[in-house]
Amino acid sequence: MNFERPNIARMAGYTPGEQLTGDHVIKLNTNENPYPPSPAVAAALQSTEVAALRRYPPPIATAFREAAATLHDVLPQNLIPTNGGDELLRLVLTTFVDAGETVVTTKPSYSLYPVLTDIQDCKLLEIPLQDDWSMPAAFVEQLKASDCKLCILVNPHAPTGQLLSVEHLAAVADGFDGILLVDEAYVDFIDPQLFYNSVPMAIERSNVILLRTLSKGYSLAGLRFGYGIACPELIEPMLNKTRDSYNTDLIAQRLATAAIESVDHAQGSWSRVRQQRERLTAALQELGFSVAPSQTNFLLCQVPAQQTAPGLYKALKEHNILVRYFDQDRLRDKLRISIGTEDENAALLNALRALL
Ligand SMILES: Cc1ncc(COP(=O)(O)O)c(C=O)c1O
Repeated sequence: MNFERPNIARMAGYTPGEQLTGDHVIKLNTNENPYPPSPAVAAALQSTEVAALRRYPPPIATAFREAAATLHDVLPQNLIPTNGGDELLRLVLTTFVDAGETVVTTKPSYSLYPVLTDIQDCKLLEIPLQDDWSMPAAFVEQLKASDCKLCILVNPHAPTGQLLSVEHLAAVADGFDGILLVDEAYVDFIDPQLFYNSVPMAIERSNVILLRTLSKGYSLAGLRFGYGIACPELIEPMLNKTRDSYNTDLIAQRLATAAIESVDHAQGSWSRVRQQRERLTAALQELGFSVAPSQTNFLLCQVPAQQTAPGLYKALKEHNILVRYFDQDRLRDKLRISIGTEDENAALLNALRALL
């Protein structure tokens, strides 16, 4: 007997990036921040006594919520702390989208979205990006025609690194009757000279939710902490009805709070990542890669002529360097490479020079 719901029986699960460990492995495949978390996070961990784990944690991570509200200049009611950004995606789907309803996203996009829409048994319409990875001019018309309940846009975009302006996002949100979820997992790496800040736009609308995570910008992928920002009417049902009763644990709450209270430290890593991004882009271009301009901590690189992306991926792996290859339309000739430290990027470039 198979007891799975038919949509679960039919679906494939999420395939995470490989997690080879060891000092000899250079991991440039899952877009982790290459620099360490704030020393305040280490101090918060050391000062947490095991005895404190006897009790349940604050259910809605009150201290974190207040600290994040201060950081973004919003009210705590505009925020929901979650177990990684991924939990927010799941909460948005289970709270607002019925089985059979339509979710729209772009193609390509974050590979977890189809998994979550399969679990919720809703339809997914993936609208292809244009050749230069920009949004199709008729995107809003297509959105309206789809009668969708939820549109998910990742911005800056994964896996291409492209950025949409806040005005563009606002026009999408105002152009259809559903919810716009803007997945801002990589927002911290945007060039500050672009003055990107979608928070005021989101909280003044009744249909926009922003996803944030501490996994990338704060070097805390292992902690599993993220949050959503939206108007209180969108936050409230997720916070008080659909969230697991204690969705974030005590240690994670304390460390996440310490991380955002010491945002200056994280900001230092963002600027180092940006410097490395510029250098690595130029060096890869010199080697014959075609590199999409990126506002994230990764680069989508088309491999030079005479090379294949799976071939280079395998050869780099033999050099203990992991990058990401997607066996997917329009990505089969490309590698997604996370920005590493200066030394890691130099090792990558040396290996590529030898291979090419
Ligand atoms: C586009 C995008 N959104 C969301 C996430 C979720 O991040 P986390 O669950 O680690 O907070 C990721 C992680 O890789 C991502 O790439």
